[in-house]
Amino acid sequence: MPELAVRLGRRSYPIKIERGLLTGLGEELRRVYRGSKIFILTDENVNAYYGEAAEKSLQRAGYITGSLVMPAGEQTKSFASLPAVYDALLDFGLTRRDLLLTLGGGVTGDLGGFIASTYMRGIPYVQFPTSLLAQIDSSVGGKVAVNHPRGKNLIGNFYQPSAVFIDPDVLVTLPDRFFADGLAEVVKTACIKDIKLWRLLRNLHTRPELQNGMVEIIARCCRIKKDVVEADEREENGRMVLNFGHTIGHALEAVCRYSRYTHGEAVAIGMSLITAQSEAMGLTAPGTTAALRETLSARGLPCAAPEADGAALVSAISRDKKNTGSSLYIILLKEIGHGFIYETTLPFFHFLLPQGGGA
Ligand SMILES: NC(=O)c1ccc[n+]([C@@H]2O[C@H](COP(=O)([O-])OP(=O)(O)OC[C@H]3O[C@@H](n4cnc5c(N)ncnc54)[C@H](O)[C@@H]3O)[C@@H](O)[C@H]2O)c1
Repeated sequence: MPELAVRLGRRSYPIKIERGLLTGLGEELRRVYRGSKIFILTDENVNAYYGEAAEKSLQRAGYITGSLVMPAGEQTKSFASLPAVYDALLDFGLTRRDLLLTLGGGVTGDLGGFIASTYMRGIPYVQFPTSLLAQIDSSVGGKVAVNHPRGKNLIGNFYQPSAVFIDPDVLVTLPDRFFADGLAEVVKTACIKDIKLWRLLRNLHTRPELQNGMVEIIARCCRIKKDVVEADEREENGRMVLNFGHTIGHALEAVCRYSRYTHGEAVAIGMSLITAQSEAMGLTAPGTTAALRETLSARGLPCAAPEADGAALVSAISRDKKNTGSSLYIILLKEIGHGFIYETTLPFFHFLLPQGGGA
């Protein structure tokens, strides 16, 4: 079974991917943590499916456990959630020698990681991601945060976990829309860096087929994410290549006030629109947009947002915190499997305006 290592000197850690790992989680934790107390942070949906199994596994391995179940959803990743979590850790008597385990999707992982980075000036934590997005992306790399009323992820930290344990079998209970959401990031990874992953994806059509290929899909995505993190731990270079589809995607999420599209849907639209434009400019191999759109649509993901206000999108792109000075650094595809950084300026995005063709 795949085991990867994120190599960051003293902050290095393993990523283990194995079907059925949840049952043996307690034993796995013994490899990275010799203490006695573990606090589990989870959300109500994940707790209903996997909370008891996780806690029993930890107790079988001799750990004393405590837990807190948060409401599910993005609103939990907020400032307002922090006091209840800190209180629960204090009530449980968690010290700097003990461990926090995040059991859930990206919301639980980002919130729990932020808590771990700040509680008693930093305690160790382990990620057990349960959504596809969290398994292939957010659990690796140590970006932890809560949202601020003025923007997503504005209050956060870089704080690496002690380990990431991934059990692809827990994805069977993930609702379809969140599954598709994670698949958008899988398609992104294949497009920018992994033609073999692309070919694998194109052969897996139904959700059960995808589920069968999940160990390889997750391992390929995690390998690429870890390589990027190792090269640019604190995003000094913006982890640039992972941002394919995200310039338009972020703008679309902001313009639609984070309600109409999930993040993955917005990224799918972003990848599709920017590739159509770069193909029209001769920067991308002919046929790339058609192949990308076919792959996205077949997995229930959108490729356009005809109702979106193009002028508002261009304005949101100009405000994006990742844009520096007058230059915009965007990711384009030379062809499927090969992304590259392209330096441009805001007028590149004028194709989004109604007279330029629209979104
Ligand atoms: N830290 C990073 O590098 C990074 C990267 C990408 C995204 N993110 C963040 O991740 C978050 C989105 O992650 P997400 O989509 O996992 O959100 P989420 O944690 O809200 O999970 C999505 C939904 O699926 C449910 N769920 C999760 N696993 C399940 C399972 N196995 N079975 C049944 N239901 C399950 C959750 O309860 C929730 O309702 C955003 O806040 C985003 O900013 C962080």
